[in-house]
Amino acid sequence: MERIEERVSKIVYGAGDIEEGFGSSSFQVTARCAIDILTAKLRIADAELYLELGRNVLVHTDGRLKSAESILSKCRKKGYDPTYENVQEKLNDLIGVRAVCSFEDDVYRMAEVLKTHKDLKIIKKKDYIKTPKSSGYRSLHLIVEIPVYFQEERRWVRAELQLRTPAMDFWAGVDHQLRYKKGKEEAVLIGEGLKEYAQVIAELDKKMVELRRRIEAI
Ligand code: GTP
Ligand code: MG
Repeated sequence: MERIEERVSKIVYGAGDIEEGFGSSSFQVTARCAIDILTAKLRIADAELYLELGRNVLVHTDGRLKSAESILSKCRKKGYDPTYENVQEKLNDLIGVRAVCSFEDDVYRMAEVLKTHKDLKIIKKKDYIKTPKSSGYRSLHLIVEIPVYFQEERRWVRAELQLRTPAMDFWAGVDHQLRYKKGKEEAVLIGEGLKEYAQVIAELDKKMVELRRRIEAI
């Protein structure tokens, strides 16, 4: 798997405000540390759940910093002036951490354990598992803030935490790969197909939980 450090170093920053702000070493350090802290929190929650359930819940984690290119295109899409302050205030997913959890109910278990961490503020919860997006996308999103201490300062750093099952992750990956074609008229069928398979995957997730419960009952 690509290391977080490598991914961060690959980011190409745009011009002007964005470059000065997000290219600055203090932003880079706090953002990278926020990813590390969130990843550690997920591992600790996994250890806690292991003691309770006798099995691991966390399959894998991944973290990324949004590229300047993608910051600019999101600002354009949402009609924000892309200043450093604006972007810090309005974009929740400058820092993104993804946690793939074994089963659908584990996703909620993980979120519950994180809720008990006093140094993690949950700003917003978007449950796209209970209410999938119109594309068919499913995941539990938590917009969180964690304190990062750097140069005698404490900054509450915001991040988007995406919690999902391996099946949801598989679907989102395929959707992401095919998305560039979705705008085209002739590709509407792909979108329809993806939506249909999102339902198949949702059923599979439910069946896997049932199966696990049957095994647990033996
Ligand atoms: P954007 O979708 O990034 O503009 O952000 P938003 O503020 O509208 O938040 P939302 O919760 O809709 O999406 C946040 C993130 O969830 C995205 O950046 C993607 O990583 C993921 N996501 C949302 N919708 C989809 C989707 O239809 N397909 C895939 N593959 N990922 C999605
Ligand atoms: Mg969106």
